Amino acid sequence: MTKNFYLTTPLYYVNDVPHIGHAYTTIAADVLARWKRMNGSTVFFLTGTDEHGAKIAAAAEKTGESPQVFVDRIAAEYRRMWKVLGISYDDFIQTSEPRHKKVVQDVFEKLKQTGDVYKGMYEDWYCVHDESYFSQAELINNKCPSCGRDVQRLQEESYFFRLSKYQEPLLAYYAAHSEFLSPSHRVNEIINFVRSGLRDLSISRTRVSWGVPVVSDPAHVVYVWFDALLNYISAPGYVPAAGNTAPFSDRWPADVHLVGKEIFRFHTVIWPAMLMALGLPLPKRVFAHGWWTVEGTKMSKSLGNVVDPHKMAEEYGVDAFRYFLLREVPFGADGDFSEKSLLGRYNAELANNLGNLLQRTVTLITKNFGGAIPITPAPSRLLSDLSAITARIDAAYNALAFHDVLEISFSLMIRTNKYIDEEAPWKLTPDQKEKLSIILLECFSVLKTLCVFLSPFMPGKMNEMWEKLGERSSLTETGPKLIESFRKGQIPLPSTGQTVIKGEPLFMRKGDRWK
Ligand code: MSP
Repeated sequence: MTKNFYLTTPLYYVNDVPHIGHAYTTIAADVLARWKRMNGSTVFFLTGTDEHGAKIAAAAEKTGESPQVFVDRIAAEYRRMWKVLGISYDDFIQTSEPRHKKVVQDVFEKLKQTGDVYKGMYEDWYCVHDESYFSQAELINNKCPSCGRDVQRLQEESYFFRLSKYQEPLLAYYAAHSEFLSPSHRVNEIINFVRSGLRDLSISRTRVSWGVPVVSDPAHVVYVWFDALLNYISAPGYVPAAGNTAPFSDRWPADVHLVGKEIFRFHTVIWPAMLMALGLPLPKRVFAHGWWTVEGTKMSKSLGNVVDPHKMAEEYGVDAFRYFLLREVPFGADGDFSEKSLLGRYNAELANNLGNLLQRTVTLITKNFGGAIPITPAPSRLLSDLSAITARIDAAYNALAFHDVLEISFSLMIRTNKYIDEEAPWKLTPDQKEKLSIILLECFSVLKTLCVFLSPFMPGKMNEMWEKLGERSSLTETGPKLIESFRKGQIPLPSTGQTVIKGEPLFMRKGDRWK
């Protein structure tokens, strides 16, 4: 039976063009999606754009476009970026789509009927310029924290979500589901926040027009977060009137919501409370990753240091860029992006270590066996612990410890390059052909294993490597069977007459302009 695996990225705001921050979450999700597919799961990988609210309407006004034309244009930029970066999403949802708005409206009415949504008065500090409310704690020197202008005390009629009712159920849920708040170093911040007391949440606005109107009270539009979070159930087909029925129930609950650390609270407090109110099961895990700075500084448009993924992919190749983002820092920790470090890893790890291992193996097989991979029934020294390695790789992927997957693969690469250096196959005499066969078959097998472990990170390059190893089948299709045999500690022998292809190096070394 195939398992279903549902994972999501946040919906990105369309008042910003995609940068490495957005690329990071989406690439990480893509790596996990590809690994799960390779393990035989039926994956539903969702991403999209968050398109409502005053800020987005203001951004549209600046360009002179209608909000819908504006959001569609930026959403298309996101789609284009994901195509360039090889993102294999299954669905892309825009919150302005009718299929989403209908769910938001129906959920709102449903919760109004159950009493979890009620009408009251909202009062806080309002900035006319930003069309936003701020709490006293958010103000900076009693001014708007966003634009620095004066704020005024305002009141408006608003609908509220009864968040306070879910304080104890949330705490009980966290206690019973240790994976829900991930990684574990983020648990305390959420538990302390919830314990300190939850207030009901204002979830409608009358001063904003670009949003989803409340059906029974159209002067109100739904608050953007309440609207956007519902994408995780609207996209897989939730119908509030029907409840948790197929096809939605085949996908829901989500296995992982991947988010940046700054929006962890929305996803681990408000979102699960909304789901409890709807009587739906909760996602299995919300994982918060860290933030990138750029050469030590916060990334911002005004500083002009925003890293454009298009440029990085052009310069270093999509695969090397994807690899770097997940190699440089443990997933869950903050990191600092520098092109110097990207180039360093590109040359040392991809061109030298991986590229050389492939080049040496292919060259030796070509020179000594006319390209045909020697087949010997010899015991494998390098992969004698293959089932243990595969178990560690599995565990690392499942823990979203992508850096560990890369580290384990990298050690295998280093071990193999060292093995070649020590065995010095080029020194073997013609009567030692059998020994040579064994060494080369071992290296070939390691390379084949690495193709499988690394292809979620570098799908293009690993396909290239797969072809250079003379494999004819598609890597993604053969992957599930291969992983099964790896788990048993077996690696299938090459087929008779399977021939390696000697060509250009996998990663061309690049000149180091920082040296
Ligand atoms: N629209 C909300 C999310 C709604 S989800 C229902 C939002 N959008 S956003 O455009 O600001 O994107 C936020 C996400 O982008 C973060 O959670 C993170 O995944 C990613 N990043 C944006 N800048 C980042 C860095 N500098 N570093 C790492 N990731 C960051 O919040």
